[in-house]
Amino acid sequence: MQFFGRLATDYQAMFGTTLESLAGKRVLDCPSGPSSFVAQACAAGVNAIGVDPLYAHAANELRNRCLDDIDYTVRQMAKHDAAYGDLDLQAYANNKRQALELFLPDYESDRAGQRYINASLPKLPFANRHFDHTLSAHLLVTYSDSAVGGCLSNSPFTLEWHLAAVLEMMRVTRGSLHIYPTTTRTKPARRHPYMDAIVELVESQSRRGHDSSDHGTDTSSAWTCRFEPSTYQRGDQDQNYSNASLVIERGAQVR
Ligand SMILES: C[S@@+](CC[C@H](N)C(=O)[O-])C[C@H]1O[C@@H](n2cnc3c(N)ncnc32)[C@H](O)[C@@H]1O
Repeated sequence: MQFFGRLATDYQAMFGTTLESLAGKRVLDCPSGPSSFVAQACAAGVNAIGVDPLYAHAANELRNRCLDDIDYTVRQMAKHDAAYGDLDLQAYANNKRQALELFLPDYESDRAGQRYINASLPKLPFANRHFDHTLSAHLLVTYSDSAVGGCLSNSPFTLEWHLAAVLEMMRVTRGSLHIYPTTTRTKPARRHPYMDAIVELVESQSRRGHDSSDHGTDTSSAWTCRFEPSTYQRGDQDQNYSNASLVIERGAQVR
């Protein structure tokens, strides 16, 4: 899996949420990687927290890993020129390096580990409904098995893992959970097959309105799902597909 991240403007394009609209809110970025979202969001008055299993490592290790992964990825993309059309690979790499340079000083200054938390889905170390919003980019769907349209062979991120991860992010979210991307990496791209199962999971949580204390999941609300058009350009896609994030929103408590 690639350890590189994107800028806050990319998050805005993926999810359609501006930093201004998130100001004063508690926002979880999971996985955050070496993305600059948390640093930029906190600077804009958002109470943002990032989660990633690689936060077990020191800043200099993360820097080397990220720079290596950017170089490797761009070399691979250059080899498969046709798949990336007229994408400017230099600009693609610079975007990730820029995010890294904003991330690193913020990561290093967080000695108390309050903004960057070493944890792994599907288990998050937060209380029920701790966050107003949760943003989850480029882990779910992206790193699913290539047989179902993801980019890993023998991916550990099975359908069961996806459902457990979504349920866990719902548990810690008071308002809305946003997931991007929602399509396969195939050409032509299509809605990822796990999306139906995720939507069905959310609907079943609403229908059951089960007692959270039984499961510790606190997902007993009238959840809704919708696909929200996204303007983020992944680079590997033709434009003839439904580029969207999935928004899972918590409504009224089921009684
Ligand atoms: C490509 S980065 C995405 C970073 C950022 N969200 C973005 O869109 O730029 C994927 C990240 O997922 C992290 N990751 C891998 N397994 C994970 C897990 N089980 N739970 C949470 N994060 C995980 C990796 O360490 C990596 O930093």
